[in-house]
Amino acid sequence: MNDPKSLQHSKEIRTLNIALVGMGTVGKGLLEILTQKATWLLTERNLQIGVSGIITRNNGVFNAENIEEVLAPSQAVKFSQKKHTSAAEHTATPPPTILAQTPKYNSITTTLHTQPTRPEIHSTTAANPTATVAETPHNEELTAQEQRSELDDVLDFIANPLHDVIIELTPTIIAKTPTAAFRHIEHALKLSKNVITANKGPIAEHYDPLNQLAQSNHCNLLFEATVLSGTPVFNLHKYALAGTKLHALEGVLNGTSNFILDKMTHGVSYREALKEAQTLGYAESDPSYDISGKDAMLKTVILAKTFFTGAIDFAAVPYEGIDKLTLAAIKSAHAEHTCYKLIGRIEQKTETTISAQVVLKKIPFSHPLASVTGNFNAINFETDLLGTITVVGKGAGKFTAAYGVFNDLLTLSKTN
Ligand SMILES: NC(=O)c1ccc[n+]([C@@H]2O[C@H](COP(=O)([O-])OP(=O)(O)OC[C@H]3O[C@@H](n4cnc5c(N)ncnc54)[C@H](OP(=O)(O)O)[C@@H]3O)[C@@H](O)[C@H]2O)c1
Repeated sequence: MNDPKSLQHSKEIRTLNIALVGMGTVGKGLLEILTQKATWLLTERNLQIGVSGIITRNNGVFNAENIEEVLAPSQAVKFSQKKHTSAAEHTATPPPTILAQTPKYNSITTTLHTQPTRPEIHSTTAANPTATVAETPHNEELTAQEQRSELDDVLDFIANPLHDVIIELTPTIIAKTPTAAFRHIEHALKLSKNVITANKGPIAEHYDPLNQLAQSNHCNLLFEATVLSGTPVFNLHKYALAGTKLHALEGVLNGTSNFILDKMTHGVSYREALKEAQTLGYAESDPSYDISGKDAMLKTVILAKTFFTGAIDFAAVPYEGIDKLTLAAIKSAHAEHTCYKLIGRIEQKTETTISAQVVLKKIPFSHPLASVTGNFNAINFETDLLGTITVVGKGAGKFTAAYGVFNDLLTLSKTN
């Protein structure tokens, strides 16, 4: 295994091996960025990023032996057919594939689309026991047996000693029981593997124990892409705002709802605007997370847990969405020179207590967040030394989100 600890001071070219758990929009964007920046990484950072594995729910497992088969989709190993490999077999595998600026690897990003999907699971409904309903194949909705074997495959994949960094990019899901994504990250950290994720769920719900696990196992847990995608938030706070104290923070944290509000200001109906957001790829795979305010709540919780001092009960953070807002209400707000924004707000109340919530609020046109339109996001940091600092940027999108992950890879290569 390559030791990223020596990357910073060494002039020799080192390799950091990454493994992707989930390769949808963000994962594909990441491989494109890594391909595009391969020469820059090599010349400016003496760094090669190797891809030692990819696992997705429907496309199967690609590892050092067969990762080139991503280019030949018909030969991909499926989850259900995957042979479990012992640790001894893992160490005997060939070295990982190094991304280079060749057309061959550019095609990785397109071929995964063409793979066959896992069969739909059908169940009867309580109201009509004879009718069958197609279910979304999310982990939490699979039977215990199906979930167990799928999770086992991913955990086994993560354990491969070739992987230096596990990049967790499965969909954000909140459930009553620990999600698969949480188990993926926990497992990797227990094995002292660095983890980078864009997945809000595990960080919002379990930041403290996961961070503790990373510290005690001397590895890193980085998640720049979880809030404002690639627009710097955590790095900005850690480096550019180092030494300042935050009194409060408020932000437009969900691009989809902001896009819809913006469209509605221009007379477009809620339904039409939501449809457009989905077509443009802004909405989460389950858009109810965006619309209900849950996505903004998750981001608010992440910011509260990482930037402020005090306990925060994830399940008790109040939030509301945009789905009840009418065109008429938006029009009348506009006539008063105000606009509606879905705002996440955190305040440091005392040295050890904080408040956090997500509210749909009417703000004057002069407010710094009023000018945040479309799928853009923004955060106002209210600091002791600098007053208010506002950062604005795209909150979603293939390259925006993937850049957050890429930037975490650079951080990792410097700080270890
Ligand atoms: N897209 C954005 O702009 C953006 C921005 C910031 C943060 N994020 C977050 O980043 C994460 C990834 O987003 P995305 O847009 O790339 O999602 P996506 O396009 O829906 O892709 C999700 C990937 O996860 C795989 N997957 C699902 N369940 C899995 C499981 N149990 N084990 C292994 N793989 C599994 C899927 O496999 P199949 O391909 O086989 O279905 C797919 O490859 C999400 O948590 C999202 O909230 C996204």
